[in-house]
Amino acid sequence: MLKIGMIGAGFVAGFHERSLCSVRDVELAGVCAPVGAKALAERAQRDGLGNTRVFESVADLCAAVDVICIFAPNFVRIDIMRNIAKAIEGGAKIEGIICEKPLARNLQEADVLARMAKALHVPTAYFENQLHMPSVVEARRQLEAVEQSMGAAHLARSAEEHGGPHEPWFWDPTRQGGGVCCDMGCHSIAVSMYTLTPSGKPPGYLTPVSVTANMSLLKWGKEPWISRLKERGVDYAAVPAEDYSNVTLEFKDPETGVRSIAQATNSWMYDAPGLRLLMEVFGPGYSYTVNSLESPAGLFISDAAATAVADSELALEKAQATRGALVLQPNEPDLYGYVAEWRDALSAFEQGKSAMLDLEYGRLITMLVMAAYMSHEKKMTIDLTDPAVLEELEDYVPLIQQGKGAEILAGT
Ligand SMILES: NC(=O)c1ccc[n+]([C@@H]2O[C@H](COP(=O)([O-])OP(=O)(O)OC[C@H]3O[C@@H](n4cnc5c(N)ncnc54)[C@H](O)[C@@H]3O)[C@@H](O)[C@H]2O)c1
Repeated sequence: MLKIGMIGAGFVAGFHERSLCSVRDVELAGVCAPVGAKALAERAQRDGLGNTRVFESVADLCAAVDVICIFAPNFVRIDIMRNIAKAIEGGAKIEGIICEKPLARNLQEADVLARMAKALHVPTAYFENQLHMPSVVEARRQLEAVEQSMGAAHLARSAEEHGGPHEPWFWDPTRQGGGVCCDMGCHSIAVSMYTLTPSGKPPGYLTPVSVTANMSLLKWGKEPWISRLKERGVDYAAVPAEDYSNVTLEFKDPETGVRSIAQATNSWMYDAPGLRLLMEVFGPGYSYTVNSLESPAGLFISDAAATAVADSELALEKAQATRGALVLQPNEPDLYGYVAEWRDALSAFEQGKSAMLDLEYGRLITMLVMAAYMSHEKKMTIDLTDPAVLEELEDYVPLIQQGKGAEILAGT
């Protein structure tokens, strides 16, 4: 029975608590967070996940668990990792460190995190749920024989879109790392690269060749949206970030030289029923599609009944409406791949190994996200085969992340 400790008790930790209900032989032993820890611990106890306790410090939590999870905001990653390192050096026996996406706000931070984990000799998991989505995994499995005879997929489109994040820190590019490209582009870049990767090869197998990106502030820089953000303490007139991002990545198979293209599109203006993940993958003579808003189930709530409904997110993540026809996904933790990523990570840790996706992989995705920001900033394609470009990316901090988005975002 592995004892899990979560640092952070917000939105994603809540999703992970629900996910653990579908994972065997685990106990959610502890939670540590400035906000939400008590409520999460109580829910875990009600759900039978063990005697979940609230811990006041990362050190105390590390001493009481086997696996430690960083589910806190992007801007506190390094501090938290330092505290984990201190606890391990002080004697805490940790069998695995899990970190949610995005690994870091930039490549310098990603390097620090990956290097610290390596120095600790502790296996890691980078939590990127979309590569574990059962629909993606099953499509790849069923097409394996076709792929082997026809060749790997050559074009992948992936989109993750919703109407905008829930907490103010996500909107602040200096704390979050950027706008929608840093927040959700990391998912779509990773999953589209994965769907182009020949089956049997590791997730970091393809050689990135180039990145071309366009970003913009389309919705949240306009009235009434900009004023609504202001009411929540977010000033998009002074410190804007992109709410639209379109990234095209070219890859090369290092063994065959075959080229492939990934298109990752993300927005915070998807004024529709709720979060949508959309993937389209095309190989020579075959294809597959995933649309997370297609469900066999639905709800209807009339105007007369709507006032009784307090929380539209009961039906679907980032749901925007409380009435009318609503999409119902009965098991979102499974649908989005959270349950499978837990199973993968925990079985790897039990064998003393890192998960399918480790912090080094998270570093690779950070590099591709940084190349996207650089492309938008320079208005040019970024050549990732050029060693000088790779060196420039090492300490590159996007203007948007520096709080200078107004200089380069159309519409501001
Ligand atoms: N895989 C996904 O699809 C997905 C979805 C949502 C969020 N995330 C990621 O999860 C992370 C957390 O996002 P969220 O939506 O849960 O945020 P949130 O704001 O809802 O919750 C953050 C939690 O971290 C706690 N926290 C803040 N500072 C802390 C610190 N110094 N030490 C310990 N805890 C601290 C807060 O009190 C809160 O409990 C982010 O990196 C985000 O990108 C991933």
